[in-house]
Amino acid sequence: MTLRLLSVTSELHPLIKTGGLADVAGALPLALAAHEVEVRSLLPAYPQVQRALAGVRLRPVHSYKALFGGPARVLAGQHKGHDLLLLDSPSLFGARDGGPYADLAGQDWSDNWRRFAALSAVAADVAAGAIKGWSADVVHAHDWQAALTAAYVRHGRRPELPVVVTIHNLAFQGRFDATAFPELGLPQSAFAVDGVEYYGGVGFLKAGLQYADAVTTVSPSYADEIRTPEGGMGLDGLLRARGDAVLGIVNGIDTREWDPSTDLALASPYSHRALGGRTANRRALEKRFGLKRGRGPIFAVISRLTWQKGIDLILDSIDHLVGLGGRLVVLGSGDGAMENALLGAATRHPGLIGVVTGYDEPLAHLMQAGADAILIPSRFEPCGLTQLYGLRYGTVPVAARTGGLTDTIIDANDAALNAGCATGLLHQPGSGDALRQAITRAINLYAAPAIWQAIRRQGMRADWGWERSSARYAALYTDLVARAATR
Ligand code: ADP
Ligand code: GLC
Repeated sequence: MTLRLLSVTSELHPLIKTGGLADVAGALPLALAAHEVEVRSLLPAYPQVQRALAGVRLRPVHSYKALFGGPARVLAGQHKGHDLLLLDSPSLFGARDGGPYADLAGQDWSDNWRRFAALSAVAADVAAGAIKGWSADVVHAHDWQAALTAAYVRHGRRPELPVVVTIHNLAFQGRFDATAFPELGLPQSAFAVDGVEYYGGVGFLKAGLQYADAVTTVSPSYADEIRTPEGGMGLDGLLRARGDAVLGIVNGIDTREWDPSTDLALASPYSHRALGGRTANRRALEKRFGLKRGRGPIFAVISRLTWQKGIDLILDSIDHLVGLGGRLVVLGSGDGAMENALLGAATRHPGLIGVVTGYDEPLAHLMQAGADAILIPSRFEPCGLTQLYGLRYGTVPVAARTGGLTDTIIDANDAALNAGCATGLLHQPGSGDALRQAITRAINLYAAPAIWQAIRRQGMRADWGWERSSARYAALYTDLVARAATR
């Protein structure tokens, strides 16, 4: 029997992306088709999304005279095989100078609570059958921006509808003042410890974790970490209380989008059988970042520039890396002080460090194809995707032993080297010394070409497509639907 799933998300690659959530929300629905799950994805019709869909026929399928203060419509369309529902609300998601969550200065939009409550309320409506001819058997809400969907479903027309909430990053919780509550349109009883109330205010993610039938996160290790006081960011108690309703399913990657043998962003295609094409990509990378030629490895960083990602640790390790003959290319955007510090390091080490600030999808692909190692010293990492792209492209991950990085990389210790299964290097998180030691190890291993090539090839052979993980999601949905039927 085909299951109908409504996926609710604030980002979806290739329409709008600030991080890995977009990659997952873009790829998982397509992978679910193989498991007889028919997905529609609901997301805001931001101007960026409307521009990306220019030329795609969009049909109005539902309308609101007043949705959180303004008229709104739901538009339906298809893009690259993905069935989309777009929440078109000029007052909430119309043109603004900035990104989906914040203005150009990085300040969150002050009406974010209203914007994402609206997305969630509409999700519950659509799931319950607001659109003629379609309703959902199960709902999957991603991150705090969609998590309130679970509350609207529970207090809506089909309260029995199963809802899965996925945590992509517990650091972003959607916490707002209690004054927002009366405007959410939820019953007064929902403002309670077992509802949306959170430390006296309103917690969107907290509400989702409370009301969801299942809570998933994007790796088994992160699922463990968030149940501890150190990793739980205030929500560990609730997560522990939810018992085995909480589980970790590691992310996959879109192996068509990220395929070095067909990738149009590369200077030259290659595969693990024929690695020769990497040389042209390395040259293209050196040129693009103004690097001098060198014998040592090129390390890459492709990242949001934040404390989570350990960018400060990289800054403290640059002289060490360069001193050992390494070079570094960075593509990132985020914290202004970190951007400036990176640009400063590039000026101090001309020809050895190259920095591009901003967001550049094709350049991210070229870097994975031309660099030797990718540095990911995250303090915490729910899953991480750049190490998976690195593995597939033969750019060896040098990463912190945390969250999904632990679950996806096999450290090149002697046991793994002897067994022929090492795929990267892992180090203790949150420590500059540990990062510098890992950089030293990487540079030494790189100097032993047979070993380095073996690590690279082993990583490239690992299959990080969505097949396994999408099957786990499909099994979870099926189980929840069966349980709801017997309630
Ligand atoms: P997170 O979602 O925490 O930012 P992930 O590793 O899961 O981390 O996903 C990051 C995604 O964003 C990857 O697809 C990566 O290639 C991409 N990315 C990050 N920064 C940039 C950038 N400046 N330009 C292009 N792509 C980027
Ligand atoms: C979040 C996490 C990242 C994860 C991504 C997709 O942005 O920080 O680790 O890979 O979501 O699930």
